[in-house]
Amino acid sequence: MSETAKLFAESLGDPTGAVVARAPGRVNLIGENTDYNDGLVLPTIVDRHVEVVARKRFDRKVRIVAADLGERCEQDFDGPVDYTGFGWLPYVLGVVHELAQRGRIECGVDIVFRGTVPRGAGLSSSAALEVATALALDAVFNLWLNPIDMARLCRDVEHRYAGVRCGIMDQFASRLGRPDNALLIDCRSLDARHVPMPLDNHRLVIVDSGVRRERVDSAYNQRRAEFEEAVTRLREADDSITSLRDVTLGMLAEHKNLLPPDLFVRCRHVISENNRVADACESLANGDLAAFGRLMNASHFSLRNDFEVSHPALDRLVEEAIQVDGVLGARLTGAGFGGCTVNLVTETALSDLKQRMQPLIDDWSLRSIVIRAPEKARVTEVIA
Ligand code: GLA
Repeated sequence: MSETAKLFAESLGDPTGAVVARAPGRVNLIGENTDYNDGLVLPTIVDRHVEVVARKRFDRKVRIVAADLGERCEQDFDGPVDYTGFGWLPYVLGVVHELAQRGRIECGVDIVFRGTVPRGAGLSSSAALEVATALALDAVFNLWLNPIDMARLCRDVEHRYAGVRCGIMDQFASRLGRPDNALLIDCRSLDARHVPMPLDNHRLVIVDSGVRRERVDSAYNQRRAEFEEAVTRLREADDSITSLRDVTLGMLAEHKNLLPPDLFVRCRHVISENNRVADACESLANGDLAAFGRLMNASHFSLRNDFEVSHPALDRLVEEAIQVDGVLGARLTGAGFGGCTVNLVTETALSDLKQRMQPLIDDWSLRSIVIRAPEKARVTEVIA
């Protein structure tokens, strides 16, 4: 029995019939703030995950235990529901209620979860929690949700219960990502393709700045609203435009006068970032990691200068990292304003990178992740 299942037995009783499911966090390699603009993204999964144990109840109670935090709540399946008690509550209870609202589950559940994805670091701990919960409930109630529908459901949970109007990248990557591959997602069509990463003697290294900005969610929602305004304005020139995906850099330059200057540069980031994702896939296909690294750097500078979601701590980490011989590229990853950088580095330069980063963060072993053997989302155990 897994450790989490043992914790289930200790806190909620007999685990017979319970399902254990896991979902990984993700790191976005390139394609930032493009998903909610119908654009392209290229995330991969990381060696950190959330594990959920869930079991059906025969009454209408929902009991949830956050094993790492020693927190616990009990609510009525039929509401009224209070999501404010714990930070994690919207993600877990949100999945339960979303499935209930869609008529897919009709009785209470017991859930225990714990995980290793750092929270608030831009590595999608909330998406991993949503996806692991959805996977466990899917197996408990035999729902047979297809993976893309599950990712969509988890994205909707984030919108409706956590109030973050995120795109679909995080939930999609956590649900569908595979080891040794990046996942190219076209966020307009939801077509996705696993892109092999010929890393050979290179590694992807995540470095956590430790900066956690409050009210990131409102800044994120605000950026998103700005793009709705930009599209409305650009439609004055061409009403076939339904999102920034329909706009090229040439068109943007032509219609510059329709946008206030700050909105113009934010759009420039999104459109150029889509181009960089396409180029990044090509460089992976050609085995040209140096070109991939240059695109990562260009993405960072665009996020810093045009999109303005960087932070001095992230800029410092990137500037120092790219000085190291053997670092091919570095950029902030995720929504920005804090969180992590992702670095592409030759294996032999790992210790130099560590030395360079060490003075900027408290503890390399706690604040870095070298991606080596991530595990894809799956049900790991059904307790007989
Ligand atoms: C957060 C959101 C994603 C995406 C990124 C920025 O992680 O949840 O949908 O927009 O920010 O690329």
